[in-house]
Amino acid sequence: MENLKKDIEKVLFSHEEIVVATKRVAEQITEDYKDSEKDPVLLCTLKGALPFMAELMKQLDIHVVTDFIDVASYHGGTESTGSIILRKDVTMDLENRDVIVVEDIVDTGRTLKHLITYLKERNVKSVACASLVDKPEARLIDVQADYIGVISPNEFLVGYGLDYEERYRNLPYIGVLKEEIYK
Ligand code: PRP
Repeated sequence: MENLKKDIEKVLFSHEEIVVATKRVAEQITEDYKDSEKDPVLLCTLKGALPFMAELMKQLDIHVVTDFIDVASYHGGTESTGSIILRKDVTMDLENRDVIVVEDIVDTGRTLKHLITYLKERNVKSVACASLVDKPEARLIDVQADYIGVISPNEFLVGYGLDYEERYRNLPYIGVLKEEIYK
């Protein structure tokens, strides 16, 4: 990873830290859902949550089923309209299912808030969220993930799913880009 590392100002969370944090989250979810009637649905939000999803599901010691959704917050003009654009919907019928939304980051909170509303409209039994990163200082909407891997300062992050113009998702750690890359 020497080529890509040249663009990184600093590493905030190493691969090892991410794996340890994911294991802790997986243990909490295992404990909370071990007596669920139906297998909980791990719902990966594309694209950023893909690496976290892959690590998390391997660490869970319960039966789960997986599904994928791709949403984008719609910001008409300068304001969020409160709606979401669905780029790809779930494939399963989620009615009466326990759904665990798997996110890479909760930033302003818009995406998670919209997702929770969207899923409740589909009559899920319960909805929770596991997010690899929480960035509480960036929050504009009052919403929280139930399971959090790491807490980040209010910086623009890349790596482990997080992108800058679609790049850097494949870094095995989370870091901050050098200013020259985005200026
Ligand atoms: C990112 C990230 C979260 C969301 C968090 O997704 O994956 O879903 O933004 O930001 P928020 O809390 O301010 O809503 P993005 O829409 O960039 O799509 P991506 O995962 O495909 O990069």
